[in-house]
Amino acid sequence: MRTGVWLVGARGSVAVTSIVGALALRAGMAEPIGCVTELPELRSPALPGFADLVMGGHDIAPTPLVKKAEALAAAGVVPARLVDALHDELAAVEREVHQLPAGGTQAETARLVAADLAAFRTRHRLDHVVVINVANTEPLPPPHPAHADLAALERALASTEAVLPPSALVAYAAFHANCSYVDFTPSTGARLPALDELAHRMGTPYGGRDGKTGETLLKSVLAPMFALRNLRVRSWSGINLLGGGDGANLAEPAANAAKTASKQRVLAETLGYQPQGTTRIDFVDDLGDFKTAWDLVTFSGFLDTAMRLDFTWHGCDSALAAPLVLDLARLTAAAHRAGRSGPLPELAFFFKDPIGASAHALTDQWQALVEFVGTLGAGTD
Ligand SMILES: NC(=O)c1ccc[n+]([C@@H]2O[C@H](COP(=O)([O-])OP(=O)(O)OC[C@H]3O[C@@H](n4cnc5c(N)ncnc54)[C@H](O)[C@@H]3O)[C@@H](O)[C@H]2O)c1
Repeated sequence: MRTGVWLVGARGSVAVTSIVGALALRAGMAEPIGCVTELPELRSPALPGFADLVMGGHDIAPTPLVKKAEALAAAGVVPARLVDALHDELAAVEREVHQLPAGGTQAETARLVAADLAAFRTRHRLDHVVVINVANTEPLPPPHPAHADLAALERALASTEAVLPPSALVAYAAFHANCSYVDFTPSTGARLPALDELAHRMGTPYGGRDGKTGETLLKSVLAPMFALRNLRVRSWSGINLLGGGDGANLAEPAANAAKTASKQRVLAETLGYQPQGTTRIDFVDDLGDFKTAWDLVTFSGFLDTAMRLDFTWHGCDSALAAPLVLDLARLTAAAHRAGRSGPLPELAFFFKDPIGASAHALTDQWQALVEFVGTLGAGTD
């Protein structure tokens, strides 16, 4: 099943690490470490192989892919030997990374984005295209009545008003182009009633949102432990120090608010109450793509005895995110082919703020994912 992976934010750290990784896996130059779809429980002929993935995307920045890959290699995110060896393949993907188009109205912009997606599908004779948003996190948009209803949205998009934030406009264009859509960021993406209506009408699935790769991953494992042992979590505070483009963007208060809200949600939903404490994100330029998260948990046990846990996580954000981007492309393409449309709550395992999911413990999310892959059929394209 030839599958297009269209990355929105294609010149960013997560995207370029995903592209280098996909090319290295295709060439047999790397092992799929971190790709959960390669675990025995999730291996399935229904999923496209790594060799079936064709990469492309949009960005607003001009940085050449090879330059960005070299910068990631210099920072220790990807091996320099891979960037050297894959120079020609990266140059070929460069031809499929386009400047995000802009029309006079949002309806016109959406038509131009959809036309790029359709042309990509035709050029590479793709069976499916999955659009994955890995662009910078947006602030929460102001509410608009047209978000609730597709007919009202279509009318509003034709005016000169900016009705949708960029992530939602891309989801709208993707559905019109019969592409599935995944939001790896905390941005709005497809999560509006009008876009859900469109996804169902077009028969396209979508998933999101906000990849779970570090501190929140640990929270989704540790919070259920406290709940299952009936220990009372009194406070959970975290500080995340990160650099890179994502860190710089998250230094903006509005983007920071969207991200920290996404990070705290797992606690209330797993424990059934909200302990004291907040999650902070601070930009430290010198850390580049590496992140340090430090969390302090205070809790009480039998007879109210006070105890505490603290942990420190040093992660390479893009190296943690990229294999999940490839997993999501494979799973979402297979879901599209299996006839799924609308939200895919079974992808909750991958996300901090999963769409439509009721399970917030990682083990429950894993079980749902295993069962989901079992429903995707044998794959006959
Ligand atoms: N790395 C992780 O572990 C992780 C986990 C969860 C979520 N995320 C999210 O993934 C996203 C990407 O992170 P990154 O480290 O690659 O950031 P980055 O700053 O390196 O890359 C973002 C890219 O998006 C581009 N961009 C911005 N607005 C755009 C638009 N409207 N259309 C197209 N492109 C646009 C930028 O030019 C840039 O190239 C962020 O939103 C981040 O919060 C990352």
